[in-house]
Amino acid sequence: MYNILLFCDPGIDDSLAIMYALLNPKINVVGIVSSYGNVPQQQAIQNVAYLLYLAGREDIPIIAGARSPLSGEVAIFYPEIHGEEGLGPIRPPDTVQREVVNFDEIFKIINTYAYNLYIIDVGRCTSLAIAFLLGGEEQLSKVKAFYSMGGAFLVPGNVTSLAEANFHGDAIAANLILNKGRNVFITPLNVTNYAIIKPENIAQITSQAYNTFSPLIKPIFDYYNEAYKKLDPSLSGSPLHDVFTIFALVNPEKVNYIDRQASVSINFDNTKGQSIADFRARSAEVNTIATDHIAVSFNYEAFVSDFINVMTMRTS
Ligand code: RIB
Ligand code: CA
Repeated sequence: MYNILLFCDPGIDDSLAIMYALLNPKINVVGIVSSYGNVPQQQAIQNVAYLLYLAGREDIPIIAGARSPLSGEVAIFYPEIHGEEGLGPIRPPDTVQREVVNFDEIFKIINTYAYNLYIIDVGRCTSLAIAFLLGGEEQLSKVKAFYSMGGAFLVPGNVTSLAEANFHGDAIAANLILNKGRNVFITPLNVTNYAIIKPENIAQITSQAYNTFSPLIKPIFDYYNEAYKKLDPSLSGSPLHDVFTIFALVNPEKVNYIDRQASVSINFDNTKGQSIADFRARSAEVNTIATDHIAVSFNYEAFVSDFINVMTMRTS
């Protein structure tokens, strides 16, 4: 069983990742840190609260994460991709209200699950960077591994020609995590752009009311898919970046990594958020404790079939 503490900014692919994690019998979600990113922090919290309510998992604590980047820049949101409220056409009801818990719950969780906890960050990197700054490296060294959705190594970015949204949204935080984190697995656009789910896969998932999330999946996916069609009309579906990152954790044999020390450009110029690593053959020999694992390829068929399998899990 994988105990996971999820940092996210739901967001459509984050929401599908939350559903995937909650439905997956291999995963025990022990907390969700909800921050600004695709939508403002308060909206992201409301979306997490709604999904946990639907799942009957109000026992899972929601931790209020960051509202803006470390740099003090004003956060940019993406309603054209994720919808005004972050769930496409779905508006989470105001009647679902949850208390959020304080940030230091993160350290309580780390201690409770010491050396048997995975942190997955599929949002802007600010909240996790703050956890490093507040908790210190010793505290964070009790985390078994970090999985971070972000970056684009030697391939085009998605918010700028060089940078991916999570690393660009808070480049200082992203660089800090890569610098301080030990055992960091990065799932960049190099792989997540190919983690495509097609409308026919969604039709298969929603053909029956398998679980509490079934009615939501098609409307939110369709919204996201329409947005992606505009971005790239050649796509036959949409990339589920955040779902892929959790898939990578629980299906380690299906993903291939290159080990290199990675960093992120913190310059406030056109390189901001660019992911950097030395991929020359001999650089693999320079192994330091800061070496990261950068995902470079994966078994696509296994990803699709696992996604369908998990999303059609029955809940009582
Ligand atoms: O670049 C993809 C990432 O940015 C994903 O985490 C997605 O949710 C968006 O915020
Ligand atoms: Ca995200």
